Amino acid sequence: MAQRADLRVRIGNLELANPILAASGTFGYGVEFAHLVDLDRLGGFVTKGLSAMPMAGAPAPRLAETAAGMVNAVGLQNIGAKAFVAEKLPALRSYRTAVIANIFGSTVAEYLEVIEVLEGAEGLAAYELNVSCPNTDGGGREFGVDPEVTARLVGEARRVSKRPLWVKLSPNVTDITIIARAAEAAGADALTIANTYPAMVIDSRTRRSRLGRLSGGLSGPAIKPITLKLVYETCQAVGIPVIGLGGIETAEDVLEYVLAGATAVQVGTAHFADPRISEGLVKGIERLVNEANINFIIELRGGLHR
Ligand SMILES: Cc1cc2nc3c(=O)[nH]c(=O)nc-3n(C[C@H](O)[C@H](O)[C@H](O)COP(=O)(O)O)c2cc1C
Repeated sequence: MAQRADLRVRIGNLELANPILAASGTFGYGVEFAHLVDLDRLGGFVTKGLSAMPMAGAPAPRLAETAAGMVNAVGLQNIGAKAFVAEKLPALRSYRTAVIANIFGSTVAEYLEVIEVLEGAEGLAAYELNVSCPNTDGGGREFGVDPEVTARLVGEARRVSKRPLWVKLSPNVTDITIIARAAEAAGADALTIANTYPAMVIDSRTRRSRLGRLSGGLSGPAIKPITLKLVYETCQAVGIPVIGLGGIETAEDVLEYVLAGATAVQVGTAHFADPRISEGLVKGIERLVNEANINFIIELRGGLHR
C-alpha cells in the first residue's frame, strides 16, 4: 500500500497539519463553517479582519462578479477584537486546527490595541497583520506601500506580541520585495502574499458603480498568475516562509504556489462557490503528492525548473 503523504509544514515555530488555510474575510470567524467543514482537516484558517472597535462596513452591494473573479467592497465589517475573544474564541478552542487572527487598524496604535486584547486570550496560533489599510496618520496612504511605515508597524507589533507574526502584503506596489524585506527585518515570522487588487465595476445601464462604493478589491482566478509571480519574487528575496494566496481553486493551483516557493497557501474567493473547498483541496494535494512519488509536500517547495 502507498505510504500516506506527509503534508505537514512549518511556519517559523508553528507546525501545521497541512499547507491549506482558509483566507481572511472568506471564512467568517471559522465557527460559522463548523457544521459544514471538519475544521480539524484544515491546516488552519484566518479570521475576518479584527479591529479595536466593531465596524459596520460598507453599504450594499458589497460583491460584484467579474470575468474569472469578483470585486468586493465589504469595508472590513467585524465585531471587534473584544467580542471575538468573548463570543467566538471559546468555541474554537475545542479544535486542533490553527486559528490565525487577522488584524487591522487605521493607526499603529489601533493595531497594537487589537494585539493587546488578543494577547490575553488562549487559543490563537498566530497574528496576521493586514497592511493594506489606509494609514490616517500618513495622509490615507496604505501602510503596506511604504517600507519604512511597514517596518515601524511590524516592529511595534513585534514588541508587544508573544505570538508569531505574519504580515499580509498589498500587491499594489511597484516592487513587493522592498516591502517584504522591510517586514522581515522588522521581525515578521512569515509573509502572506497577497491581498486583493484595486478595481472598479461599472453598470453601463445605470452608469453607477456595481458596488455600494466606487471601487473595491479584485480576487479569484483572474489574479492567480499575477500573485504567483509576486510569491516567486518574494521567495527569492526573503528567508522567512511565504504563504501564497490568490485565485486558488484546485490542488494543481496549490502546487503551482508551492513550486514558486510558498510554504503554505490560503484559499479565499473559492469558498463563495463551495464552502467545503479547502477540505477538498487537502485531499487533492494528498493525491498529487502520492502521484509525484514523494512522501513530503515540502520536497516540492521552490521546485520550479528554470
Ligand atoms: C469578501 C472578501 C472579504 C475579505 N476580507 C478581508 C479581510 O478582512 N482582511 C484581509 O486581510 N483580507 C481580506 N480579503 C482578502 C482575501 O483574504 C484574499 O487576500 C484575496 O481575496 C485573494 O485571494 P482569493 O483570490 O483566493 O480570494 C477579503 C476578500 C474577500 C473576497
